[in-house]
Amino acid sequence: MPTSAALPLPADPHSYARPTEVSVRHLMLDLSVDFRTHILSGEATWQLQDLSEAATLWLDTRDLQIDAVSVGDHKHDTSTTWELGQPDAILGQSLRIALPAGTSQVTIRYRTAPGAAALQWLTPAQTAGQQQPFLFTQSQAILARTWLPCQDSPGVRFTYEATVRVPSHLLALMSAENPQMRNALGEYHFRMTQPIPAYLMALAVGDLAFTPLSGRTGIYAEPITLPTATSEFADLDKMVAAAEELYGPYQWERYDLLVLPPSFPFGGMENPRLTFVTPTILAGDRSLTSLVAHELAHSWSGNLVTNATWNDFWLNEGFTVYFERRIMEKLYGRPYADMLQVLGHTSLLHTLAELGPASADTHLHLNLAGRDPDEGLNEIAYEKGDYLLLTLEHLVGRDELDAFIKEYFARHRFQSMDTASFLAYLRRQLLNQHSGLEEKLQLSAWVDAPGIPTVAPPVTSERFTLVEQARQDWLDGTPATLLSTKGWSSHEWVHFLQGLPDPLSSDKLAELDAAFQLTHSGNSEILAAWFPHTLAAGYHPADAALESFLTRVGRRKFLVPLYKALLAAPDGHERAQAVYTQARPNYHSVASGTLDVLLGRS
Ligand code: BES
Ligand code: ZN
Repeated sequence: MPTSAALPLPADPHSYARPTEVSVRHLMLDLSVDFRTHILSGEATWQLQDLSEAATLWLDTRDLQIDAVSVGDHKHDTSTTWELGQPDAILGQSLRIALPAGTSQVTIRYRTAPGAAALQWLTPAQTAGQQQPFLFTQSQAILARTWLPCQDSPGVRFTYEATVRVPSHLLALMSAENPQMRNALGEYHFRMTQPIPAYLMALAVGDLAFTPLSGRTGIYAEPITLPTATSEFADLDKMVAAAEELYGPYQWERYDLLVLPPSFPFGGMENPRLTFVTPTILAGDRSLTSLVAHELAHSWSGNLVTNATWNDFWLNEGFTVYFERRIMEKLYGRPYADMLQVLGHTSLLHTLAELGPASADTHLHLNLAGRDPDEGLNEIAYEKGDYLLLTLEHLVGRDELDAFIKEYFARHRFQSMDTASFLAYLRRQLLNQHSGLEEKLQLSAWVDAPGIPTVAPPVTSERFTLVEQARQDWLDGTPATLLSTKGWSSHEWVHFLQGLPDPLSSDKLAELDAAFQLTHSGNSEILAAWFPHTLAAGYHPADAALESFLTRVGRRKFLVPLYKALLAAPDGHERAQAVYTQARPNYHSVASGTLDVLLGRS
């Protein structure tokens, strides 16, 4: 399959880099990890591709201490002049490095700040095993620059190799070819031979062990978590096979999962070759593994074909949600995937209601210039993006849409894509083959207007129809113990709970709790759907479980709605502040950043 020539890049409002002048090609990283001072220190050597004989290399940094910069190969280093720009709260500081004529390589000696936003340093008490400290990074969207001076724009790709030195009893892993065992020196070498953007740079260090699942898949986790994780993700290899059947070969060789401690701020992060996941999907019944299908799907949508800027985030996430549900359908059938689709739709309606009918943040194509992408990126990219593809499926049929998507990935692999180029490609390859299709699809209403275009087909789930019936029966007075909930998955429970009105009486919730042990559910999604009702009703038997959940779990998607519900409850303000004070040290900066605003701490 011929790949088309790289497209010209649109300007990225979230990067100081000027990749059209000179861009990085390959990174040689050498870092030491100091758990005592919470500092990474070492050297980053960038090999350059000089496009226009530029005199200056512009890099992104934030809170980095730059100790020295030199140019030339390692044996003949000469120092060069460099300058840090004015700090900006969101973008950090540019690092401008003078490039003498003919420079092909630049080395930066630097160290990170103890509070570097991408990094979370955990004490032993914050891990599952309780014996060893832990470090992990979260670089998306623009945090790579807090631990690596780089061209931190998703339109810039590079390969890398790295040496990482850690305390000898810990294992280091990256978004690269990874070790499967500890070594006595605590020195690890990594290679990433496929070019990736900076937001996919990742590092984790901890008391980690590995269990293979197949020749190309496996699980890393703390030893105490590993058996549970291995059984939860037993279908991993089947997922990769299903994904390949849909949209073409997996291009990254291995696919492993790393299960992080519970403070990981996201559900999952698609770091190439090594997806990072929250332990809150270890439900014991494999009910929350669609999140893994999602991160796996990013190996095509996102990691292979990458949004050119964060304004084009829907190209990453919308395709990924659609792809995720197709993988789940292949493995577990249409009724299962339909439940996921309806849950996604519910959350889309919720986000639209929250943002309002005229909000430009409900367009697929965003304008995040001047804003922190971390605050501007919401559910719209995911669910409205998916809905556009679902509508296309509805209009042209699966065979034609699948052929289009497969070809789209193949032709643009290892390249970036912006919204305008995607639309041009979509017209050329698909829409123009059918007269009137673009109008029928209401393409511009999806991309550049708020809300959901009227052409979107309804989404329904047979299994949820039964849930809705049971919910209504219970609200009408049928005792909870008489409801037919046998065989319900957590998705059915979440749908049941999300559709309950507020506030219910405390007695009514007590009845439900007695019948189904919701307060003590081991399923994080069920808990997150249950607690808002207990708070609204003032059902206090759930308080302790809620507080323990908020202190243990750092996943922002759960924390934000729960703190909002807590703040809205009677005497909730003081309770929210008290829990937050206790829990905040457990949260990663991307979670505490959002919560500080919500709780008036910033
Ligand atoms: N790439 C995202 C996580 C992300 C997005 C991090 C934007 C930083 C900025 C990841 O693929 C994701 O979408 N995770 C979701 C789970 C998914 C099943 C919707 C999450 O973490 O909740
Ligand atoms: Zn995603």
